[in-house]
Amino acid sequence: MSNAAAPATEGPDRSEAPAHVAIIMDGNGRWAAARGLPRAEGHRRGVEALRRVVRASHELGIRYLTIFSFSSENWSRPASEIGDLFGLLRRFIRNDLASLHRDGVKVRIIGEREGLESDICALLNEAEELTRDNTRLTLVVAFNYGSRQEIAKAAQKLAREIAEGKRDPATIDAETLGAHLDAPDIPDPDLIIRTSGEQRLSNFLMWQAAYSELVFVPIHWPDFDKAALESAIAEFARRERRFGGLVAKTAS
Ligand code: IPE
Ligand code: IPE
Ligand code: MG
Repeated sequence: MSNAAAPATEGPDRSEAPAHVAIIMDGNGRWAAARGLPRAEGHRRGVEALRRVVRASHELGIRYLTIFSFSSENWSRPASEIGDLFGLLRRFIRNDLASLHRDGVKVRIIGEREGLESDICALLNEAEELTRDNTRLTLVVAFNYGSRQEIAKAAQKLAREIAEGKRDPATIDAETLGAHLDAPDIPDPDLIIRTSGEQRLSNFLMWQAAYSELVFVPIHWPDFDKAALESAIAEFARRERRFGGLVAKTAS
């Protein structure tokens, strides 16, 4: 990736920045519990961390930032917590969309929209529509997202094409399946960060993570900031990516 046209910033060499960083924003509940606060407060502070990280991503020259904001499995949480999380998404879009747009951020949403309340769907559509021509940073929000569900949906689309006589099953390869996922134009993540110490993907971007570098950090998401992002990027820069070959490729 070339950063030739990017403005200079303080901090690490921008050429170290991975093109696509994806983050599993975990630990809001534990952050709150450690302070004797309700889980909802952890989620609210998590949105503040998100704002910081979007800004830092601009500054560090990241082109794509994907964030895991609500998983298909998070429906198993108490209704009141689901209500809090949906409320925060609504507020985030209502309060922050104009400034994201001003900053040249293009918003994309991945995940299942069917079954979501119509006002949420309208907000998601509005965010994508308003920012569709922006080019500075693409913010991909994984909302009501599960990787297995995404892959199953791609399989359904392909099966439909076959049933309609538009596709020969022999044409289905990894590239074709990948092209039927939710955001096929977005490159695979170079770096996946998970906060709060858990070392698992929890059904996040499992197809796209085939050759992502994984960095697990112990801090809870509400405490994540630009320095923590820089340190994850520095760890990424030390990794050797070989993609199955023998020769190491430089980080991004
Ligand atoms: C991440 O924090 C936010 C979501 C999963 C929506 P958690 O709510 O999972 O926080 P912990 O893992 O319980 O601490
Ligand atoms: C993953 O975190 C989902 C999001 C960050 C939105 P979880 O907290 O739901 O994951 P598990 O349950 O610990 O695996
Ligand atoms: Mg969690």
